[in-house]
Amino acid sequence: MDRPHIVFRPMKLSDLPVIMEVERASFPTPWPRQAFYNELVHNRFARYSVIQVDGRVVGYCGLWLLLDEAHITNIAIHPNFRGRGLGKALLSYVMRQAKEWGAGKMTLEVRVSNKIAQRLYKKMGFEPSGIRPRYYTDNQEDAIIMWVTLHGNDEKTRQSPDQGEMPGSGNRNQL
Ligand SMILES: CC(C)(COP(=O)(O)OP(=O)(O)OC[C@H]1O[C@@H](n2cnc3c(N)ncnc32)[C@H](O)[C@@H]1OP(=O)(O)O)[C@@H](O)C(=O)NCCC(=O)NCCS
Repeated sequence: MDRPHIVFRPMKLSDLPVIMEVERASFPTPWPRQAFYNELVHNRFARYSVIQVDGRVVGYCGLWLLLDEAHITNIAIHPNFRGRGLGKALLSYVMRQAKEWGAGKMTLEVRVSNKIAQRLYKKMGFEPSGIRPRYYTDNQEDAIIMWVTLHGNDEKTRQSPDQGEMPGSGNRNQL
């Protein structure tokens, strides 16, 4: 099988219909379209990136750049494309970008129940630093706060499917 063509690029307003598909398929309380619109149009601290596979947008990651800190707001890969290394590749790309934009560290919150995302973050060097009790208002779930230091030459932030080893082709599509 041909190797898929992977592209990372900034999110555009015209991506929003596809982004909303991925968002609704990925989160129990999806953001409304207007939230993405506001991020892209009105929030000067926001940077949103997408990952395309063979021309199709299959995932995205957003962050806020606050001085030297990058705060991840969301990351998702379409369910049909999970378990192939794309989430790792996207996060790796976003970490490299944040470093280029001047961030020295990156943080995020993750549901205590979201073990898959936690594994991804740990793999990328994030470490837990605390808990935000009842952070998620839909079910009062706690959030784990995680941080990583962004190193320019960090091996972890240099991996990407278009720069070396191809992600695995297995599809573990069961969040
Ligand atoms: C979290 C998410 C972005 C990961 O994307 P993905 O493309 O499936 O992830 P990858 O294939 O790159 O896997 C990265 C790592 O995540 C972990 N992982 C991924 N799928 C897994 C599964 N089904 N079971 C256990 N661990 C899994 C593994 O540690 C994996 O690394 P490895 O393959 O080297 O072991 C994706 O599952 C998703 O969109 N989830 C719904 C939205 C969400 O929860 N976002 C995070 C909010 S904080």
